[in-house]
Amino acid sequence: MKLQICTVIFLTSFILASAQSIISDSTSYTAITTVSQGGPTPTIAFEAPALLTEVTPAVSPNMASYQLNSSFKITNRSVTRTYYWTIAARYGAPDGYYRSYITINSQMPGPLVEANEGDTLVFNIYNALPSQTASIHWHGMHQNGTAFMDGVPGVTQCPIQSGKSFTYHFTVTQYGTYWYHSHSSTQYTDGLFGPLIIHSVNDPLVRGTDFDYEQVIILNDWYHNQAVRTCPHLPNGI
Ligand SMILES: *[C@@H]1O[C@H](CO)[C@@H](O)[C@H](O)[C@H]1NC(C)=O
Ligand SMILES: *[C@@H]1O[C@H](CO)[C@@H](O)[C@H](O)[C@H]1NC(C)=O
Ligand SMILES: *[C@@H]1O[C@H](CO)[C@@H](O)[C@H](O)[C@H]1NC(C)=O
Repeated sequence: MKLQICTVIFLTSFILASAQSIISDSTSYTAITTVSQGGPTPTIAFEAPALLTEVTPAVSPNMASYQLNSSFKITNRSVTRTYYWTIAARYGAPDGYYRSYITINSQMPGPLVEANEGDTLVFNIYNALPSQTASIHWHGMHQNGTAFMDGVPGVTQCPIQSGKSFTYHFTVTQYGTYWYHSHSSTQYTDGLFGPLIIHSVNDPLVRGTDFDYEQVIILNDWYHNQAVRTCPHLPNGI
């Protein structure tokens, strides 16, 4: 079996790699009740144990959820792929230490997105964070003609208010291993990011010939404090 690793290094601390390998750990993050309340409040804190109804035990990553789907059809026939995501706060212990973090559809890091070059992606995002605005930036996407879908609050859009939704809608004109992440405050350090994999018939490496299957590996720094504490001078930074 041949091994291919594509690595992209982002900003200061993130590495997202798509690699072909076998990883058997299939323990899941435990899904718990969404934490949300009506109406935005002017505070950036979301560490609010009184709101929480349940906590997660210490968990380990669900590597299977980041395995690229071997049935996924790599084609130049474009389709529209539509996603419904809820951004929410959780209190749990991903590495055994309890803290607040941010999930998409109960998952942290966020769900794997797989598409083909030429596809149109539609992300219906609901912000269920109790007291923070949010956004998603599709890192590296050219957004030629769709600049307002770039996901940078204060630059290309208003932030998504707590309790509100926003739909990102754009066509992918490139391929490779990318990621998406919040562009609000320091949220991506608290977990609001995930893999964005764009296939193409033009990819020189062909599944079944050059490799057997692909596993996305996400590496990120993880602190026991929320990023807003680690980085207190950047509460509203972008
Ligand atoms: C894998 O891809 C196939 C074909 O597109 C699809 O029917 C199936 O639901 C996918 N499986 C997962 C787990 O996404
Ligand atoms: C899609 O791929 C097929 C087979 O390689 C090719 O014949 C066709 O011209 C391609 N279509 C487009 C729009 O690129
Ligand atoms: C952006 O799209 C326009 C219109 O389709 C095209 O003419 C232009 O070359 C594109 N720019 C880039 C950088 O791809």
